[in-house]
Amino acid sequence: MGSPILAPSMLAADHTRLAEDIKCVEQAGCQWLHVDIMDGHFVPNLTFGPQTVADLRPKTKLFLDVHLMLDNPQEFVEHFIKAGADQVTIHVEPEYDIPGTLAKIRELGAKCGVVFNPGTPVAAVEPYLEQIDMVLAMTVQPGFGGQSFQESVLEKTKQLAAWREERNLDFRIQVDGGVNADNAPICRNNGVDTFVAGTAFFKSEDKVAFRQKVEELV
Ligand code: DX5
Ligand code: ZN
Repeated sequence: MGSPILAPSMLAADHTRLAEDIKCVEQAGCQWLHVDIMDGHFVPNLTFGPQTVADLRPKTKLFLDVHLMLDNPQEFVEHFIKAGADQVTIHVEPEYDIPGTLAKIRELGAKCGVVFNPGTPVAAVEPYLEQIDMVLAMTVQPGFGGQSFQESVLEKTKQLAAWREERNLDFRIQVDGGVNADNAPICRNNGVDTFVAGTAFFKSEDKVAFRQKVEELV
């Protein structure tokens, strides 16, 4: 299990002043930034494209963790990696060549991961565990920030942690959706080491303290 990492989600930032809000993420001492890409088909919302990532890249050293919520991620991984993504995660629900897309992400020099929705069995990601750097377990139905954390998903992160240990693998286990300082401990107890937080991070008055609580430093 890796040391805990908080990845604030840019979805909850002010989209007219992304560069300034990203400075707040850096000033809180964070190392990662989670970037949600939505296509209006796989999820009922639209967000950013490769141009946003390319424009942010020279402004920050944060590790850009790009979460693709797309029906056709295989057509976009190259654009996002060329734009500066450090890691790209792809959903297992749509029909496309998942192992080939993971291999392509690696070939292009980025880290890769698979994502599954709350209604998807954890077995859907099992075939890829040896090929990835991270599994993202969605703790809300993706599409919007500000939803309630679904604690039942933690049975699946626990299973992932058991597989990771039994098979001597070292992928990270990330949760995304409704994560806050109060539910981070139960996540950690169920194998989670990487925490996306949008609303809870950007609404918190003391962002350093928020990070320290989530990263178990206090
Ligand atoms: C949801 C996105 C999340 C979202 C989380 O579809 O994948 O990354 O930003 O936001 P909060 O933390 O507000 O639930
Ligand atoms: Zn996300």
